[in-house]
This record gives sequence, structure tokens and C-alpha cells, in this order.
Amino acid sequence: MTYIVNDKCISCKYTDCVEVCPVDCFYEGENMLVIHPDECIDCGVCEPECPAEAILPDTEKGALEWVQFNLEKSLTWPNITERRDPLPDADENLDKANKFKTLFIDQPASQNLRACTKTNNDL
Ligand code: SF4
Ligand code: F3S
Repeated sequence: MTYIVNDKCISCKYTDCVEVCPVDCFYEGENMLVIHPDECIDCGVCEPECPAEAILPDTEKGALEWVQFNLEKSLTWPNITERRDPLPDADENLDKANKFKTLFIDQPASQNLRACTKTNNDL
């Protein structure tokens, strides 16, 4: 079993979930987060923290199809361990339908990429 992030996170990225995860298993895309299914210890504390209700256990209806997506993205997106400001239009995008088709950006978080580049240059 694992918990997953679904498309309700897209264009919101409130990151309240990151702050409470005891094992730091969230990974950051440009406009959504995912959970690494093999690192998640199923504690469930992140689920009620998400204002978008984007986090579910994989036993929940419709959640199982998100496990593979969370796994794939967590292998290439950077780890996020601290809470950040939500995306600028988070509240406006909270209840939008079809977010995956219309809003999803299939890229790792650019903010972290810039930070990684800086670190590499500094070495
Ligand atoms: Fe982290 Fe627990 Fe949420 Fe899994 S269920 S992502 S371990 S807070
Ligand atoms: Fe996304 Fe909810 Fe976390 S919107 S960043 S899953 S708090």
C-alpha cells in the first residue's frame, strides 16, 4: 500500500503535505508533487493536510491508477522537503476540472533545477 498524489494537486502545489511527511518522500514537478510509493510508510498524516484533497491511499476508488504515475515521476523529479508558497493561481485552480489534460506540465520543478545547477557550479 502507498499514498498517492492525483491531478487535484496540479497548478496548486500548496506543499502543506511536505511539511508533515516523516520520511520526506515527496518529489516536485513544475506544477504538482508526487509521492514515491516505495518510500511512503503509509502513515496517512499528509492526507488531511492537503487543501486540494489530492492525496489518497491507493485503496481508495480511482487511486490505484495513480501509483505508476507517482512512481515514474518520483524517479526523475527532485525531492522536496520543505514547505513553499503555493503556486500564484492555486486558489483559482483548486476546483478546475480536467487539470491533467489542460494544465499539467510534464517537467521537474525548475526552481530546484536552478538550485542544483548553482550547487554544481559551486563545486
Ligand atoms: Fe509521507 Fe505518510 Fe504521506 Fe506517505 S502517507 S507520503 S509517509 S506523510
Ligand atoms: Fe499538492 Fe496538496 Fe501537497 S495540493 S503539494 S498534494 S498539499
